[in-house]
Amino acid sequence: MTAEFERMEGLKRFSIAVVAGARPNFMKIAPIVRALRERAGIARESGIDLRVSIVHTGQHYDENMSEVFFRELEIAEPDRHLDVGSGSHAEQTARIMVAFEKYILEKRPDWVVVVGDVNSTIGCALPAKKLGAKVAHVEAGLRSFDMSMPEEINRKLTDAISDLYFVTEESGERNLQAEGVAPEKVFVVGNVMIDTLLRNREKVEGPGFVPSPAVKAFCEASPRYGVLTLHRPSNVDHRETLVPIWGVLSEIARRVPLLFPIHPRTRGKIREFGLSENGISLIDPVGSLDMLHAMKGAVVVLTDSGGLQEETTVLGIPCVTIRENTERPVTVTMGTNYLAGTDPAMILSVANEILSGRGKKGTVPPLWDGHAAGRIADILLRTETAEGERA
Ligand code: UD1
Repeated sequence: MTAEFERMEGLKRFSIAVVAGARPNFMKIAPIVRALRERAGIARESGIDLRVSIVHTGQHYDENMSEVFFRELEIAEPDRHLDVGSGSHAEQTARIMVAFEKYILEKRPDWVVVVGDVNSTIGCALPAKKLGAKVAHVEAGLRSFDMSMPEEINRKLTDAISDLYFVTEESGERNLQAEGVAPEKVFVVGNVMIDTLLRNREKVEGPGFVPSPAVKAFCEASPRYGVLTLHRPSNVDHRETLVPIWGVLSEIARRVPLLFPIHPRTRGKIREFGLSENGISLIDPVGSLDMLHAMKGAVVVLTDSGGLQEETTVLGIPCVTIRENTERPVTVTMGTNYLAGTDPAMILSVANEILSGRGKKGTVPPLWDGHAAGRIADILLRTETAEGERA
């Protein structure tokens, strides 16, 4: 569907719905929404009435999994809440699809921008595409080549139906090419997560920033510490995987105190399996500013998150990735990331190397410069202008 003409003031309506649902999405949509809204004036001069809406699916809903990010990242209140909540993958994705289909029928956006690889990404891309909206996928083309990861399924399905592909690293471009995506639809634009990181860094380094009491107390208590996050189902959902990983993390915590802002999924599993803290400091999930404050002072980050692999690369902090694969290979080849796997001996050996001061220094990948969202906004507007000229 091309943009529908509204004769209001002689402007052509161009409406974009930007979707977010889960914690990492909020970090990614913040700069995109800002960049698009900043361009409304320029668009108007070209005869385009640019309307940008935010849709929050409600996949994440706790204060510290959602609202805190809207506040800290200065994201406007969502125009629509779908309030889907938690559930099995099918339940959650289906609820998102049904609710988003209604939204599309009511609002008829020209484009839907989805980010990342969570259930909200495919849950919104699919009904949007079927109802004729165009779909832009931000962070397209990343592949772990591990179809046991729900995120890999979400990424591949979203990329199978997208109209524009915004790519963070060269591997993404190669993967899309190998899957037959037309090169003119693919744009290597850099990393919107890093746009947010760099903006947050200024805030955290500014005089007005005060970390939350739990983070402040931990960071001040030890000059040398590490930060840990762990929430992948493959690592935490089963006793036989989590227990050995927890064992080696406890061993590392004896060498360097570890701060663990713990995801609700992992907290539930630790309780269920009767694991004790073992010197690992568990705190509730934290917002992006607290997380950055903690990471900036850390000697090592241990994680199974995708985003932290990228953020540590830009911060120059060695990162031990507790996974067998990564969809973000540039963080290993250029950055500070080590793909340690889930074997306790390997995790310990990598952590020891880093703690002995032999960690990688790394370099920042191309275009991870804080301007990715601006490039995306410009391309979306250019696409619309070109459509208008053809119509
Ligand atoms: C989801 C994403 C994952 C991402 C992660 C970031 C998918 C398939 N997975 O995983 O890629 O890395 O978010 O956090 O989309 N819960 C709460 N409060 C909340 C949200 C969740 O307590 O605000 C609990 C619920 O018990 C829920 C569980 O956490 O069942 C898991 O949440 P869910 O969104 O299903 O998956 P995540 O593990 O968070």
